[in-house]
Amino acid sequence: MKTSFAIAAIAVLLSCSVWAAPNVIKPHHVEALGSDMNCRTCHTTKGKFQRPDAQTCIDCHGGMADIPTQPNRWDKNPHNSHHYEDLLECTVCHSEHKASKPLCVDCHVVEFPNLK
Ligand code: HEC
Ligand code: HEC
Ligand code: HEC
Ligand code: HEC
Repeated sequence: MKTSFAIAAIAVLLSCSVWAAPNVIKPHHVEALGSDMNCRTCHTTKGKFQRPDAQTCIDCHGGMADIPTQPNRWDKNPHNSHHYEDLLECTVCHSEHKASKPLCVDCHVVEFPNLK
C-alpha cells in the first residue's frame, strides 16, 4: 500500500516536471526584455504551441552569418561549418525550455562554453 502510494507520488512529480518545463523562458531573454518576451513573442502562430521557426529568432538576432561565435582550439564554427554553412534552423542547437545541445558534438570532440 505504502509502496504503491510512493510510486503514484513519483509519477505525479515526474508528470509535473514534464508539463512545467515549457513555462520557463531562459534568463538571457527575461533579463533583456522582461515582459516583452512572453510566450507569444516566439510562438506567434495562434492556437497550439509549436516549435518556432528560425525566422522568429532571425527577426531579433539576425542570421547566423551576423552572429560571430568565439574562435575555439578545435576550429569548429557552429554558425558557419562547411557541412551546413548557415542553413540550419536555430533550434537544432538552441533550446528555450531545456538545455541546448550543439549538433557538432554528435561527431566531433569540441566544447562550446558560451552555448545558451
Ligand atoms: C523579441 C526579440 C528576440 C527573439 C524573438 C529571440 N531573441 Fe534571443 N535574445 C534577445 C535579446 C535582446 C537577448 C539579450 C541580448 C543578447 O545577448 O543579444 C537575447 C539573447 C539570446 C541568447 C544569449 C546570447 C548570449 O551571448 O548571452 C541566445 C543564445 C538567444 N537569444 C537565442 C535565441 C533563439 C535561438 C531564438 C529563437 C527561438 C531567440 N533567441 C529569439 C532577443 C530575442
Ligand atoms: C525565446 C523564444 C520562446 C519563448 C519566449 C517561449 N518559447 Fe516555447 N518554445 C520555444 C522553442 C525554441 C521550442 C522548441 C523546444 C525547446 O527549445 O525547448 C519551444 C517549445 C514549446 C512547447 C512545445 C511545443 C512542441 O510541440 O514541441 C510548448 C508547449 C511551449 N514552447 C510553450 C511555451 C510557453 C507556455 C511559453 C511562455 C511561458 C513559451 N513557450 C515561451 C521558444 C520559445
Ligand atoms: C554526422 C557527423 C558530423 C556532424 C554532425 C558534424 N560533422 Fe564536421 N565532420 C564530420 C566528418 C566525417 C568530417 C571529415 C570529412 C569532411 O571533411 O567532410 C568532418 C569535418 C569537419 C571539419 C574539417 C576537418 C576538421 O576536423 O577540422 C570541420 C571544421 C567541421 N567538420 C566542423 C563541424 C561543425 C562546426 C559541426 C556542427 C555545426 C559539425 N562539423 C558537425 C562529421 C560531422
Ligand atoms: C549547429 C548548432 C547551432 C545553430 C544551428 C545555431 N547556433 Fe547559435 N550558437 C551555437 C553554439 C555552440 C554557440 C556557442 C559558441 C561558443 O560557446 O563558443 C552559439 C552562440 C550563439 C549566440 C551567442 C553568440 C556569442 O556572443 O557568443 C547567439 C546569440 C546565437 N548563437 C544565436 C543563434 C541564432 C539566432 C541561430 C539561428 C539563426 C543560431 N544561433 C543557430 C550553436 C548553434
